Amino acid sequence: MLPFKSIIEIDKHQKSPVYLQIVNSIIREINSGRIATGQKLPGSREMAGLLNLNRKTVIMAYDELMAQGWVETHPSRGSFISTELPKVNYQKIQPETRQKGQPALEKCGFPIVSNRYLEAPVYAEHSMLEIDEGSPDERLAPIEDLYRYCKAIARSKAGRKLLKYHDVQGEISFRKSLSKYLSETRGLHYPDENIFITRGSQMAIYLIFNTLVKKHDNVIVGASNYGAANAVIKNLEANLLKVPVDDNGIVVSAIEEACQRTNVRAVYITPHHHFPTTVTLSAQRRIELLKLAEKYRFVILEDDYDYDYHYSSSPILPLASLDHQGLVIYVGAFSKLLAPSIRIGYLAAPMPLIRELRKLRKIIDRQGDPIMEKALGEMIREGELQRHLKKSVRIYKERRDLFCRLLQENLGDHVDFKVPAGGMVVWTRFGKHIDLAELAQALKRKKIFIGIQKDFVLEHNAIRFGFASLNEREIYQSIASLKETLEELVG
Ligand SMILES: Cc1ncc(COP(=O)(O)O)c(C=O)c1O
Repeated sequence: MLPFKSIIEIDKHQKSPVYLQIVNSIIREINSGRIATGQKLPGSREMAGLLNLNRKTVIMAYDELMAQGWVETHPSRGSFISTELPKVNYQKIQPETRQKGQPALEKCGFPIVSNRYLEAPVYAEHSMLEIDEGSPDERLAPIEDLYRYCKAIARSKAGRKLLKYHDVQGEISFRKSLSKYLSETRGLHYPDENIFITRGSQMAIYLIFNTLVKKHDNVIVGASNYGAANAVIKNLEANLLKVPVDDNGIVVSAIEEACQRTNVRAVYITPHHHFPTTVTLSAQRRIELLKLAEKYRFVILEDDYDYDYHYSSSPILPLASLDHQGLVIYVGAFSKLLAPSIRIGYLAAPMPLIRELRKLRKIIDRQGDPIMEKALGEMIREGELQRHLKKSVRIYKERRDLFCRLLQENLGDHVDFKVPAGGMVVWTRFGKHIDLAELAQALKRKKIFIGIQKDFVLEHNAIRFGFASLNEREIYQSIASLKETLEELVG
């Protein structure tokens, strides 16, 4: 018998499962000719003894080898290396194929017109310290717990079924958990039928506008506003009507004036912390806005992207909690609660819209990720998400206070800001003598990334400084670099 104990290499610390290590060792030995075709393999019990493993592991390995065609089993005689081995076709790299280090393929054999409504995304390089525009600290997120739930679900018989094509509107037990969660945390009473799971709130915004808004329709937004929402509206060739935003949020009397002048199809708002300035829409204006919507029959898209983060008092309930006429569509997400790349968001809306959204989603993305959704639903039911939120709010409040104190002490002569009552950013206006594009470039040379938005610079010479994703050391480093660079630029 061949010395299988030395042929088969097993490392229990390796990431790949032990049974696959057996499979790979045997295939390698067959290919090298050390194990001949027709050779008999020891029985599973014997092999398990030789390798000091559980017999089940060896059975799994033999089953896999059989499924791949390397091994055949003859009843009562045992398992043998197949006489007809599977052919492995190695593909040669073609000369046209891109080699490592080659520039990307630019030649385009067909006409293409660049989209004038959309901007190319810009990201920080990995080696940079990024002062972002309002992201959570993914290092705090209970990601291992989330994947533990996913693993348990995927292992179960019912969970496996979630790998099939699934409901375009989202996994049902998650929608039920979310329905309860929204009712308990923000006074929203939507049954699961009215909740639609998306890949983040951005997809929700896209689906809603693409369903409701047509070319030349008028859509009202604040001046300034969240750029990616503006881009969705512009991309539809609808008209963006910008109305002022003051310390009480979007100016509702300006919306009314617009309604008197023209037909308004929709109003997009971020009332909890207006994007970008972070102000909260006052209770008075919320009521006025709802009355206006009822009078002029426009739809309100309430993007509640960072509802969970409020530090000074209890958060104001969403506008949607006051709506009994089906005028408000509510949008939220877990990307700001957990991590941006956990792509789970949702919208809540009346059924006629939900039915339309189901059709549109199906041709874009087919469905979300039901295993992840179910896992998140279980974490909500177990209270794990709520515990994470409590912890994050406490930490972000400390970070906000530190960031604002250092900003005032070190850059107070150049900037103007208010300590935000909630959210993850400080809306920071710079003196007119400071060129923000130049500041961003100078910081980039020092491996610090700040995101600047053309509109915010033009209209306010301002930046959204995200404090939540920076730990204490990073906050000190960011402010020190900002101070040093500003002094180099303006003295
Ligand atoms: C106001 C607002 N809405 C929506 C989004 C989209 O978030 P996501 O798609 O990650 O949930 C963002 C992201 O920064 C945002 O700031």
